[in-house]
Amino acid sequence: MKITKICCIGAGYVGGPTMAVIAQKCPEIKVTVVDINQARIDAWNGEDLDKLPVYEPGLDKVVSEARGRNLFFSTDVNKAIEEAEMVFISVNTPTKTYGEGKGQAADLKWVELCARQIAAASTTDKIVVEKSTLPVRTAQAVKDILDNTGNGLKFQILSNPEFLAEGTAIEDLLFADRVLIGGDSSPEGQEAIQALVDIYSHWIPREKILTTNVWSSELSKLTANAFLAQRVSSINAISELCEVTGADVNEVARAIGADSRIGSKFLKASVGFGGSCFQKDILNMVYISRSYGLHAVADYWEQVIIMNDHQKARFAKNIIKALYNTVSGKKITFFGWAFKKDTNDTRESAAIYVADYLISEQAQICVYDPKVSAEKIYADLDYLNTRSSEENRKYVTVLSDPYEAVDSAHAVAVLTEWDEFLEYDWDKIFQSMLQPAQIFDGRNILPHKDLSKIGFRVKAIGKSF
Ligand code: NAD
Ligand code: UGA
Repeated sequence: MKITKICCIGAGYVGGPTMAVIAQKCPEIKVTVVDINQARIDAWNGEDLDKLPVYEPGLDKVVSEARGRNLFFSTDVNKAIEEAEMVFISVNTPTKTYGEGKGQAADLKWVELCARQIAAASTTDKIVVEKSTLPVRTAQAVKDILDNTGNGLKFQILSNPEFLAEGTAIEDLLFADRVLIGGDSSPEGQEAIQALVDIYSHWIPREKILTTNVWSSELSKLTANAFLAQRVSSINAISELCEVTGADVNEVARAIGADSRIGSKFLKASVGFGGSCFQKDILNMVYISRSYGLHAVADYWEQVIIMNDHQKARFAKNIIKALYNTVSGKKITFFGWAFKKDTNDTRESAAIYVADYLISEQAQICVYDPKVSAEKIYADLDYLNTRSSEENRKYVTVLSDPYEAVDSAHAVAVLTEWDEFLEYDWDKIFQSMLQPAQIFDGRNILPHKDLSKIGFRVKAIGKSF
């Protein structure tokens, strides 16, 4: 089966970049990305490529090449579904905030809405591709909805989870380690798998396109994120041990990472992992395991989250301790708010939780982040519901000049590993801060020895000075 038209429901961090790359690499396929959020679609269609709704290095170039040629962004969901042979579901699947499974299970309301809308808008057979990260066996529910519409149409459900990381999305999409496609073993299922394989084969070597059954594919996505997050929590656990023993976590990471069985990637100790997915996907796995009665499995994975929460709180507590056990009324400057560099995404960023902790101790937080707006920072804090939004505004200021942000500060805390922090004039920063000037490097990126020479008191993750 040859695909000539694709519809993708959800123009977010995954739907936008993923479809832009498919459109760039498959100029003969018309790709329409749809969303119910008009503002988001307007931003995707905007003239100014600096203002796309998602900031990703290289994305502007891909969009400018394909947009208007074979890549379209629209709010007309039904029309795009109707004309496509293949429909991707790439909507959000956040942790449930209400009812059964609150705080752990994935909220599948948007996925179900998509399935119902596909069923209602379709007039021809379709391949439906789960691109969102979903609990294992979700395809069963999607299929059940699509098969019971009474319209006589045939739907094949594929699972094609996305492994891109934010900040490197375009690189990850262009040079994926692997592409995973799960489908049914029936001849129709295999034909659907082949149709999607043919799309990715435009730029991904065939041996890197893995095909499995649907359940393995769904579960592999949750498992990959759980393993990655587990590595971060593991090295963060070791970082605390380093701080009390005189070992240096970077040296330990290098030493263990040289073992090819362990590998060197994803061993950077930090203030804690953030992002929209690690926590949500692990909680989801914990929930699924418990619902099958697998309590030991659930407890095992839950520990990854417990360790991460501990690391964020520990960072805040260390700041308070070093500032003579009180931060009340003291200005503490945050360098970075995004959950990692090269993205404007702040979902579950460690910075939010560290700030919340310090504000509860009445600290005055001044934030500088090169890509995150003040509006977003306040919204992140308000979302926690710890205090009123007026109070959050009283305790937090957001500035667009880093040098202004550090003026008369007691401490600078690095929360995101933006490269530009390395280029700063740290002598000048030292001069403008209150003494003793303290630095808390939550990302271990700054040249600690040089800063100590300038006169800073430096604390970093997994090191004792
Ligand atoms: P997002 O919130 O950025 O985007 C989702 C979009 O879907 C929103 O714009 C929303 O308006 C739209 N939407 C929701 N319901 C809709 C409907 N019924 N019709 C039309 N549009 C609808 O989310 P995201 O970060 O792109 O994540 C999407 C999925 O991909 C999630 O399941 C996530 O776990 C997974 N994922 C995310 C990443 C990542 O780096 N962000 C990576 C891999 C996988
Ligand atoms: C992660 C995975 O890497 C992707 O493969 C996956 O597709 C995606 O989740 C998803 O499902 O959403 P992402 O969250 O965008 O991607 O970014 P990562 O690079 O994985 O970083 C996650 C968090 O871990 C960040 O806060 C980062 O700073 C932190 N981290 C990462 C560390 O603290 N140390 C490390 O060594 C690596």
